[in-house]
Amino acid sequence: MERFSIEGPVRLSGTVTASGAKNAALPALAATLLTDQPVELARVPRVRDIRTMTRLLEHLGAECAASGSVVRVGGWPGGDHAEAPYELVKTMRASILVLGPLLARRGFARVSLPGGCAIGVRPIDEHLRGLQALGAAIEVEEGYVTARAERLVGTRFRFQVPSVTGTENVMMAATHARGTTRLENCAREAEIADLAELLTAMGAHIQGAGSEVIEIEGVDSLHGARHQVIADRIEAGTYLLAAAITGGDVTVDGARAEDLSPLTAALHDTGVEVEPTGSGMRCRGNGALAATRLETAPHPGFPTDLQAQFMALLTQAEGTSTIRESVFENRFQHVPELNRLGADIRTAGRLAIVQGPRRLTGTGVMATDLRASACLVLAALVAHGTTVVDRIYHLDRGYESMESKLQSLGARVERVDQPMDL
Ligand code: EPZ
Repeated sequence: MERFSIEGPVRLSGTVTASGAKNAALPALAATLLTDQPVELARVPRVRDIRTMTRLLEHLGAECAASGSVVRVGGWPGGDHAEAPYELVKTMRASILVLGPLLARRGFARVSLPGGCAIGVRPIDEHLRGLQALGAAIEVEEGYVTARAERLVGTRFRFQVPSVTGTENVMMAATHARGTTRLENCAREAEIADLAELLTAMGAHIQGAGSEVIEIEGVDSLHGARHQVIADRIEAGTYLLAAAITGGDVTVDGARAEDLSPLTAALHDTGVEVEPTGSGMRCRGNGALAATRLETAPHPGFPTDLQAQFMALLTQAEGTSTIRESVFENRFQHVPELNRLGADIRTAGRLAIVQGPRRLTGTGVMATDLRASACLVLAALVAHGTTVVDRIYHLDRGYESMESKLQSLGARVERVDQPMDL
């Protein structure tokens, strides 16, 4: 079981380059099923979830070839094998993103229900309601979703919840529906517009992606394309927060100001300024951190995927801060681990109350999910002494080369696999 051993406190400084967004590359890979022609994706992050998705595409009969951060998928020939098995889906919930494309191309799909996960139940009812609205017959039995449709037909559908992957799944299916589809109350995260850009390059007719209303004019088929995935705004935000928490000075090349505006606003409230540079975004910690009140929300609200990392910062802020996690029902599992390091955080349902500043002291802690592991790494950078973060396989799902990027900023972090002796 690999671990990170981190010496603190340290002040980070320097420049790192944001990798491509995991949550943009995953739907983009699923979208390759919509054509039998080659699709080439650039700036794909080399992280475990991407490997899981390419394995799933290969299981379905597509040919995938990766060279550095470029992934080339030979297109999906169609055929009868339109099933995503439990043993693959259980390792990554985003596998559900193949449901819409398979249904659109083949008129049939059988995908294992994704399990829940550490941060919540993670239902997919919005995905299924949207596909049903397009004319699909949906059955859920024996842990699998089976979807059938002779031909999907354009419709008007309103999401009850602005689901990110729900919007992506239904938008992909609608590219092949007969006529016009109008989707309302859509998710507005940057990854939606990026997927629409790829689909448009493949010949789809889509308007409004990135806003709450998306209109899709169905076509009979899509062709191959080349696309560069957007930079990962959550990874970029994590490194900017690393500058803020360590009182350092970090530039993240490739980070886009428009994607990070909710984080920039929240950091401004703590007294930390983030400014655009010619090539990205720069954050300079200034030692004095003010407590604040934070609430997560769908974009353009504060991203839930940066909540845990921001909480680490607030352990160093002067005063009482509150965080309301309004997106997921169980996304405070990093709290007991932060308290082991010396933080003073109490939770009540979806509210966390953080007293600061608190001097953190290194010890053994355990990652419970992808973003909680990033939170613990940030806390370890300011904790006095050695912190060993266990179960960093969670981190490897979504952060490319984190230890080498942190080392380039001056962090004393090593990936170790000896038993924890703290
Ligand atoms: C995407 O998950 C991201 N994953 C998540 O990132 C991110 O946390 C989340 O969006 C919110 O921004 C990918 O893009 C692969 P949702 P997704 O559907 O689409 C409820 C990470 O760390 N809901 O927008 O699964 C749901 O329970 C991961 O990279 C329904 O009720 O999230 C949740 O409360 C973690 N019915 C809320 O909506 C549905 O059918 C938001 O979920 C779907 C969702």
